[in-house]
Amino acid sequence: MAVNILLMWATDELMLWLTTVFPVLTSAAPLLTQPALPLTLGALLLALLLGKGVGLSAAVFIPALCAFSSGDDTLDVFVLGLVTSVVGVLAIFRSRTRTQTFRAALWIIFAVIVVEATYLFLNATPWAFYLHVLGVAIVATFLTVLLVNLLLPLCEYAFGLCSNISLLELSDLNHPLLKRLQLEAPGTYHHTLMVSTLAEHAAEAVGANTLLTRVAAYFHDIGKLANPTYFTENSFGENRHEELSPRMSSMIILNHVKEGLAMAARYKLKAPIREAIATHHGTSLVYFFYRRALDNNQIADGGDEDNFRYPGPPPQSREATLISLADACEAASRSLEKPTPQKIDALVDELFHNKLLTGQLDQSQLTMAELNTAIETIKKTLQTMLHGRISYPKFTTTEVAESAKKMAPRRPKGAEGAAGDTGDTRPLDRAAIDKLEGAGADQPGEQPDDDEAEPPVPPAPGSD
Ligand SMILES: [Fe+2]
Ligand SMILES: [Fe+2]
Repeated sequence: MAVNILLMWATDELMLWLTTVFPVLTSAAPLLTQPALPLTLGALLLALLLGKGVGLSAAVFIPALCAFSSGDDTLDVFVLGLVTSVVGVLAIFRSRTRTQTFRAALWIIFAVIVVEATYLFLNATPWAFYLHVLGVAIVATFLTVLLVNLLLPLCEYAFGLCSNISLLELSDLNHPLLKRLQLEAPGTYHHTLMVSTLAEHAAEAVGANTLLTRVAAYFHDIGKLANPTYFTENSFGENRHEELSPRMSSMIILNHVKEGLAMAARYKLKAPIREAIATHHGTSLVYFFYRRALDNNQIADGGDEDNFRYPGPPPQSREATLISLADACEAASRSLEKPTPQKIDALVDELFHNKLLTGQLDQSQLTMAELNTAIETIKKTLQTMLHGRISYPKFTTTEVAESAKKMAPRRPKGAEGAAGDTGDTRPLDRAAIDKLEGAGADQPGEQPDDDEAEPPVPPAPGSD
């Protein structure tokens, strides 16, 4: 019964459209027959694939093209296309999930409603048609966004591009390659997480694509899976290079880029991620083994350098450059035995200048100002990350005793046996304080003899 009623209603609606509304709309209001579909589709796709700038350019260019080819209603078509496309691009370009693209569709529908309502008002079109116009707008917009989602993977594949939606899917740490890194090369896995954090912060500071930077950093060293134990971070004290010649060691190290690209092709990783794998070492020299080969007289000075050099090329996108910088800084920072903010700054500066002087940043598409911003961000992030390893001078027992004396008058009256408003009601160990006060000079062995000692109680400034 209910189904019959529904069918009757649908048939009536369809008949109404076919016999009355559609012809009227076609003749009386040509603008309403222009579906939003071809006008916004291109701009939305380009915004997702290439970003806001390209999307907005398309939002002007495509409606203009459609308007010129539409005949009489040039201005109407252009206005409708321009407004809906611009609103659509601004609403969709940051989308990281397919659900978010459909949320953007609501903004496009709102824009269509405003434009159509204005048109109907200016042309004194009967408002009875307005609801039907609204229906057309909703259906056309959702069809457009649906088509965008269907075409997106095809365009990515065809043009080697990578949208935020695909990147977010790749950012899942359960990706088979990342799972293998966790199990087979845990040191490298930890390194990639550190590099991704450093590079992502730098990308944010210079306005590069943070999601792309983070995801590409996850995969930059997957080639180490071929020989994980030959890399320091996975060797756990065992040096597998002892029994190898410098040239063979260098070959294994250099090979991780080639292996990484082979794995990326096998797992169909997108072009920007493959770029980060290929370029994160640029054309730099594996200096440690090159030096060893020179010292062992296995190569002549200045000769055979190419066998110790990464194939490159140097990074060519902003994101790949930031990964390359973060990679070098993170790897080098692990060799700092007693990291201090000053040592970290000096190390990062040195690495940056080396890369600059050897031409590794020549094609980076980052200005000097942006590179400096990125370097300063890397320094700060690295200091925060190595905070636990940064040592501070110890408080001596004399300083602890003096601090206890200074704090005594500030304690509330009658609270000598309690811990104020901390809720700690344990009595103070007066005997221990007296002992400290009486100790006077520092006891032998309590004086910190180097700056690697653990911060005692009370905690050193900035250590919490
Ligand atoms: Fe690497
Ligand atoms: Fe690395």
